[in-house]
Amino acid sequence: MSRKPQVTRASAPGKVILFGEHAVVYGRPALAVPVTDVQAVATVDAGRSELGVTVYAHDIGRTIDVCQAEAEEPLSLTVRNTLSALSLRLEEVQLAVHVRSSIPIASGMGSGAAVATAIVRALSQHLGCPLDTGTVSSLVYETEQVYHGTPSGIDNTVVAFEQSVYFRRGDPIAILEVGQPFWVVIADSGVPSLTRQTVADVRSVWQRCPEAYERLFDEIGAVVDTARAAIEGGEVGSLGPLMNENQDLLRQLGVSSPMLEGLIEAAQRGGALGAKLSGGGVGGNIVAAVTEESADRVRGYLLDAEAAQVIVTRVEK
Ligand code: MEV
Repeated sequence: MSRKPQVTRASAPGKVILFGEHAVVYGRPALAVPVTDVQAVATVDAGRSELGVTVYAHDIGRTIDVCQAEAEEPLSLTVRNTLSALSLRLEEVQLAVHVRSSIPIASGMGSGAAVATAIVRALSQHLGCPLDTGTVSSLVYETEQVYHGTPSGIDNTVVAFEQSVYFRRGDPIAILEVGQPFWVVIADSGVPSLTRQTVADVRSVWQRCPEAYERLFDEIGAVVDTARAAIEGGEVGSLGPLMNENQDLLRQLGVSSPMLEGLIEAAQRGGALGAKLSGGGVGGNIVAAVTEESADRVRGYLLDAEAAQVIVTRVEK
């Protein structure tokens, strides 16, 4: 009887930052939740070619031979780092990694972190040594540095732990306890959000006007703490006004754009309780707080305003 070739599959969700982006890079807290409606999936099998690992990124039509790839190529870096965490060398394995993802790319939904998480999980499970979540998150952070330059670590944390988090750089992970489930609508502008660029732009103004920017970061941090108390206390009605307040501060940081403002206005016309950009900004996503009843209407308004994709999701944990 022939043995079925071993195939290992692992996945990871997208994420959305509810409050606190950018200020989180400067040590203030932020709140983010996993979005399980979209997923990255990695499948590992024995491969067809010679020794080493080949990554097939099906959505973007790329095939990467990890042995030949540049050191900074993010998918091959993820593979190399995973093998090294397992004390294995590339020449000791013969594998193919197939990657597919429904998470919009460069939209602020953590697609890079989710793809890397799925790869680390699938590879380590396939090789018989599944890595613990903390190690997965640290390995994904290394890939995030290549994508984003100086990331806070929020994306890899929420995606790898698959938990809503109150995140502060350097602190142990704090799970956000959701007192009462609530609904949010996420709309993708279709314009790429280049997080590396927006983080660098904020940094260069911060270097020129440290007092003004530190004040804005503090104000964002205070909104995050109020939002945390509201979510944990089940007072979800106040999340809308808090999103508007956070958006006002993000505007002052200079990371909004006419396209994002148009989507925020559309969400508000549709009856959202409040809305803000989410992630790096300029392009990418907005997130709106809605009720279960208003969610479909808000979705319709966002599609009419030419959002490239709209996701309605319930936040429960
Ligand atoms: C990107 O998803 C969120 C930012 O705060 C950058 C980071 O936290 O690394 C803009």
